[in-house]
Amino acid sequence: MHFNGIAFNASGPRDTEPEELKALADSRACAITTKTATIKPRKGNPKPRYYDDGDNSVNSMGLPNPGYEEMARRIKALKHYSDKPVFASFSGSPREAAAITSAFDEAGADVLELNLSCPNLGKGKTEAESWLEGLGAVEEATKKSLAAKLPCFLNACEQELFCGVLEQSRVKYLVAVNSPGGGLMLNQKNEIALKPLHGGYGGKGIKALALGNVFRYHEYFGNKKKIIGVGGVFSGRDAFEHLLVGASLVEIGTAYQIHGTGIFTRVENELKTELEKHGFKSAGEAIGKAIQL
Ligand SMILES: Cc1cc2nc3c(=O)[nH]c(=O)nc-3n(C[C@H](O)[C@H](O)[C@H](O)COP(=O)(O)O)c2cc1C
Repeated sequence: MHFNGIAFNASGPRDTEPEELKALADSRACAITTKTATIKPRKGNPKPRYYDDGDNSVNSMGLPNPGYEEMARRIKALKHYSDKPVFASFSGSPREAAAITSAFDEAGADVLELNLSCPNLGKGKTEAESWLEGLGAVEEATKKSLAAKLPCFLNACEQELFCGVLEQSRVKYLVAVNSPGGGLMLNQKNEIALKPLHGGYGGKGIKALALGNVFRYHEYFGNKKKIIGVGGVFSGRDAFEHLLVGASLVEIGTAYQIHGTGIFTRVENELKTELEKHGFKSAGEAIGKAIQL
């Protein structure tokens, strides 16, 4: 699989409708992620369910999506239109995940991305058991590359426990991180910005947490897994920092929602300057080169 650059969109913002997917195909994004799909269509939570202040966002979208069958048709059309790698995101119980995987595989998706940061995988089990079961079901359903969209861990012990689970799987891409939950923002009218009150937090404020998670995965796995850094990427410098702590690609959520597809051009151009400034001949050379004191 060839990536013509290092930056592309994170699952969620502006990646559900056919015209949004086409805009991503026409942009500088080096791959395309599709909105997390579920077995049945979902309307999502009551609005307002997204808010940003230009730097940070909260969202409680509730996974609005047209369901996996319609999403598979959109992926198929996208693959006819563009040769960019497509990361097809989905979520569900192990049985649902297996059905969705097969459909997305058939539709031509290049990477099947299991959203493990969603709490509805296998009820009554520990999270680690649910992960194993979900990943196992997906592994059986396809021979294609797998990605896992990972939650934002706030401590090393918990993250290492889950590294053990990921080690047992053939997941190739670790997509870190999803929005940490429980965020709340107020708008200029002193209103709580979201109807559901709390939401996942994204944007500049989570970059440090994302870098912390990426760094630990890189320490644990070295080159055995590819890490895709997500969290607070607005500039080439942000992408460069993700590379330095171990990411080989970056995804952009909030900044893409706010700035549109121009963000991919900006990040790629600025990253080139940043790499030159610090004496790296390519993005690959910078991976994991953060200096430790
Ligand atoms: C409006 C919105 C919707 C999102 N929906 C999804 C989703 O469906 N699946 C998913 O894995 N992550 C979803 N996310 C999380 C993003 O993919 C990303 O992990 C997070 O926003 C952190 O990146 P950022 O700091 O660039 O925003 C969503 C984020 C936003 C802002």
